[in-house]
Amino acid sequence: MKITFIGAGYVGLVSGAMLSSLGLDVTCSDSNYDKIQALQNGHVPIYEPGLNECIKKSVDAGRLRFMCRSHPEPGSHPALDAGSSIVFIAVGTPSLESGDADLSYIYDATLRAAENHDKDTLIVIKSTVPPGTCQKLQLMLRERGFEHEIASNPEFLREGSAIEDFLKPDRIVIGISSDRAGDLLSKVYKSLTDKGFPILATDTTTAELIKYASNSFLATKIAFINEMANLCEKVGANVEMLSKAMGMDHRIGSAFLKAGPGFGGSCFPKDLLALSYLAHEHNQPCHVLDAVIFSNKNRSAHMARKIQDVIGDLKGRVICVLGITFKAGTDDVRSSPAVAIINILTELGAEVRVYDPEGAKGGMELVSATFCNDAYDAVLGAEAIVILTEWEEFKALDFRRIAGLLVGKNIFDFRNILDGDSLKKMGFNYHKIGMPVCNRVA
Ligand code: UDX
Repeated sequence: MKITFIGAGYVGLVSGAMLSSLGLDVTCSDSNYDKIQALQNGHVPIYEPGLNECIKKSVDAGRLRFMCRSHPEPGSHPALDAGSSIVFIAVGTPSLESGDADLSYIYDATLRAAENHDKDTLIVIKSTVPPGTCQKLQLMLRERGFEHEIASNPEFLREGSAIEDFLKPDRIVIGISSDRAGDLLSKVYKSLTDKGFPILATDTTTAELIKYASNSFLATKIAFINEMANLCEKVGANVEMLSKAMGMDHRIGSAFLKAGPGFGGSCFPKDLLALSYLAHEHNQPCHVLDAVIFSNKNRSAHMARKIQDVIGDLKGRVICVLGITFKAGTDDVRSSPAVAIINILTELGAEVRVYDPEGAKGGMELVSATFCNDAYDAVLGAEAIVILTEWEEFKALDFRRIAGLLVGKNIFDFRNILDGDSLKKMGFNYHKIGMPVCNRVA
């Protein structure tokens, strides 16, 4: 089966590459010619473990190619995507000032798909779009005389583990309006459903809401445990034990119950805002959702206050920040809590030195800080270390060496990844999230 992706960003590229690895014939297109040219030359523009190898294999096998329809270069014309049974739309849906999702790229891409493919080609929206969007797109096409059907197939890929998420999905969700669309999409995912991974077919609006509601629920778990961590610090309880015990209740589950500096990334903050906007627009506010957005927004200032509470006025003080990406295993700094925290620290007058194994390039544009080549360089002359991303390599740092480089003795471990007992033995003042200052009565 021949498939086209419009949008070779994170979702389009990963999904296209993975479908080609399942044996389908895939063309990934994008309006950014530089990106397409890089891909044609074997350069993958995003960091995702295993993706390079997977793309190379499929390209070599002739199952994956890249094109830029708008660019008159060889490799782009004649259209490589002719005869596609399905066009997946995977373009961006950024937040507008209001919180609503900007769907202009989706509308453009859908129209382009209809113009360039015959009426039997199924157009499938993979981007995260507010419930009701597919219906509106369908109407838009009808008004322009196009007969194509629009379906929904939301993605649930986590950055850093997208390949595994794609190949071992908890569920595949498809939103359809006809049996034909259901059959086509079932064919696409046949090799996964044959292995027992479930596919759920529903209407397009429910499929769209499943994506938003899932992300919102996961974000709610994180905001909840982060607030419990605050409470633990006040009442003298241990958030790690709390989270472990709560997670052992199978009705709750242990995932997304790790307290930290707040959730970030390209999905959660944006999707929550869009769902909240939609709820208010329908005069049906989701108060829990609004509280989660509020709680996470305030978390960065709360983290900065924790540092201030210990070391006082930050004016002119050097702070070392380890980690700027929104989580480990990615170079993505979009809506990273680390960026917000660094900006607060610098506004308070601190001089921030940052090290991140992957995030420097993106981070430099978002904060006024000195970026260092490694953690030992970043700690030079600092009064405190603040850990904001849970990179494995931070656990393996030589803290005896660091003790000699750091001016102060404070380590703020806002991801709770270090061995506090041994650090305390080395003479550090070790602060983590959601822990009592002293949890044992002598
Ligand atoms: C998320 C969804 O998981 C995925 O299904 C969707 O398709 C896209 O959005 P992603 O943004 O890659 O994926 O990151 P994820 O691993 O879900 O983490 C999101 C944020 O929550 C990160 O900032 C992470 O550090 C934070 N987090 C996660 C916590 O603070 N605690 C946790 O227990 C889990």
